Amino acid sequence: MKMTQQLDQTLSPQIHIIDGKEFAETLRQSVAIGARAFREKRGRAPGLAVVLVGQDPASQVYVRTKMKKALESGIDSFPHLLDSSTSQADLLQLIEKLNNDRYVHGILVQLPLPAHIDESKIITAIDPAKDVDGFHPINVGLLGQGKASLVPCTPLGCLMMLKDHLGNLSGKKAVIVGRSNIVGKPMANLLLQENCTVTIVHSRTEDLYSECRQADILVVAMGKAEFINAGAIKPGAVVIDVGINRVDKGGRSVLVGDVDFDSVGPVAGAITPVPGGVGPMTVACLMGNTLAAAEAIERDRAARY
Ligand code: GUN
Repeated sequence: MKMTQQLDQTLSPQIHIIDGKEFAETLRQSVAIGARAFREKRGRAPGLAVVLVGQDPASQVYVRTKMKKALESGIDSFPHLLDSSTSQADLLQLIEKLNNDRYVHGILVQLPLPAHIDESKIITAIDPAKDVDGFHPINVGLLGQGKASLVPCTPLGCLMMLKDHLGNLSGKKAVIVGRSNIVGKPMANLLLQENCTVTIVHSRTEDLYSECRQADILVVAMGKAEFINAGAIKPGAVVIDVGINRVDKGGRSVLVGDVDFDSVGPVAGAITPVPGGVGPMTVACLMGNTLAAAEAIERDRAARY
């Protein structure tokens, strides 16, 4: 199943688009089949608790999308929309309650949290078996050791698209732009497991562009609108654009990635668009992680009783 389209363009060379939206829909349908089988066997659906603290507009959109896709996937979602003044102690108490709730198999706390709450304390309080974001130190450690774990959704979605497009990644030179805990670092571990030669570049890297030009695979997650242009691309490289930035273009507010699509597209072997690339895959992988967590938790429970 190759989720790659070729856009024939009259005025510019062909651009190979990796269609994350279509890939995500295929993945979501397979999760829905798994969720139905789970419900028939266990008498309840996989359950995902979604916690949002505050009214950040972008986070509200993400949380709404996650709940809508959960519903479409046959996953029960339990929203907890909390005021921005919620204390850390109250949030920890909610996490404890969700950890012990038999109907909840996955817990997602939307980030960023308000400044008065210590994100790492909250993430560490989540039961690692329900950590569908893969952010808990235990899951981070397991991923670093190359062992089975819940893996962060964005890099997992990127890896799926890369494997779908390229097949075997072994020996490829991968460069990741950005060293965040959510994308850059787990992406590096996943690509290492696929036997890639991995480099992470970041804001302090000397000559970032020349590092990028070595890449067969370039994953860009730096949060700077259209920062990467054709000068950073080895012809034929596969480019995964994780960025989502809202910018003004000719008086219109539009979404763009961290990659300058118009200049990079014709040079790259394939590229993910923004929107419609990594974003939908992140949400689909969250549904996949929730189903996987539910199956593991109920299997363990059944083995104990
Ligand atoms: N904020 C931005 N990306 C993510 C994500 O993948 N998970 C959570 N929980 N918050 C985010």
